[in-house]
Amino acid sequence: MTVGQKQRVFSGVQPTGKLHIGNYVGAIKQWAEHQDSYDNIFCVVDLHAVTIPEAVDPKQFRAKTLEVAALYLACGIDPAKSTIFLQSHVAEHSQAAWLLNCLAPLGWLYRMTQFKAKAGSNESVGTGLLDYPVLMAADILLYDTHKVPVGEDQKQHIEFTRDLAQRVNTMFPGAGLVIPEPMIPPAGARVMGLDDPTVKMSKSIAETKKGHAIGLLDAPSDIKKAIMSAQTDSANEARFDHAGPGVRNLLDLYQVLSGQSREEIEAEFHGQGYGKLKKALVERAVAALEPVQARYAGLTESKDYLEAILRQGAERARSIAARTHARLRDAMGFVAP
Ligand code: TYM
Repeated sequence: MTVGQKQRVFSGVQPTGKLHIGNYVGAIKQWAEHQDSYDNIFCVVDLHAVTIPEAVDPKQFRAKTLEVAALYLACGIDPAKSTIFLQSHVAEHSQAAWLLNCLAPLGWLYRMTQFKAKAGSNESVGTGLLDYPVLMAADILLYDTHKVPVGEDQKQHIEFTRDLAQRVNTMFPGAGLVIPEPMIPPAGARVMGLDDPTVKMSKSIAETKKGHAIGLLDAPSDIKKAIMSAQTDSANEARFDHAGPGVRNLLDLYQVLSGQSREEIEAEFHGQGYGKLKKALVERAVAALEPVQARYAGLTESKDYLEAILRQGAERARSIAARTHARLRDAMGFVAP
């Protein structure tokens, strides 16, 4: 079900680590920009956040979950246009994940690159980590989602969701699951670490390592320090197709934050020394995050408002999810409650 003729968008962020500019340009910024074109549902995926239980400190987890919800609003998600809720408030996510678990081949899960990277050779990892993509598929499929706006690292999870939905539809045709499409931005879909452009900018690294990321709530002086000390090279090459990985990362970020074309950016910075590019990027990053931080500061003083938004969001989400869940149960032959 969609509002009018609008297609449905669903996406989410895990409330773990430190939210950074990669999460913003890869995901949340495009959610906000496309808000009027779609029927939007944005979830703080707190159930996913406990798949690495060693990293969960209950007090911090609770605070971080509310922080991410407030950041959605601060980044421009408008509760009048978009539904915002916490995943654990809508029980259908866990319930549908169980049904999908029984239909998801184990081999597909063992092949997921994020599982392999996170599990490594540690045999005591939780089952939830392996099962993570199934819960994510439940998130998406419960809302008859057409588009999933995410960064590039989530592409394999969306492919998995599509394959699983097709399998379910073949086995139980009455399920009629909608096959979702990833929506990956043309620039900023994979922001790399400023300190090491060979690794993706990551919330968990950002938590412990200064200079790795531009945090959404970082002070301008920290943003400046991180960008000015970003790893570059000695080539003086500021053209998108020829730059080394560190400079390319800065150029890509500059492109998304300035909205300028590649040609304009190359004309401005090529052959100028990287200092000029870095200074200009500091200005763009600070200017982009300033209104986000100001709105966030206002929201920290209105906890009741945020909680009311999340309650209303969960109600609407539940009403949609319950229908799809019932359709799936019915297609599989469960007796209606
Ligand atoms: P998470 O919490 O790791 O990241 C949230 C969003 O930010 C994007 N992202 C990046 N984009 C560009 N450059 C980066 N360095 C970068 N790092 C992260 C991610 O692609 C993501 O869009 N599995 C998801 C959460 C999830 C979800 C869902 C998403 C659970 N259920 C259903 C969409 C739909 C995740 O871990 O995102």
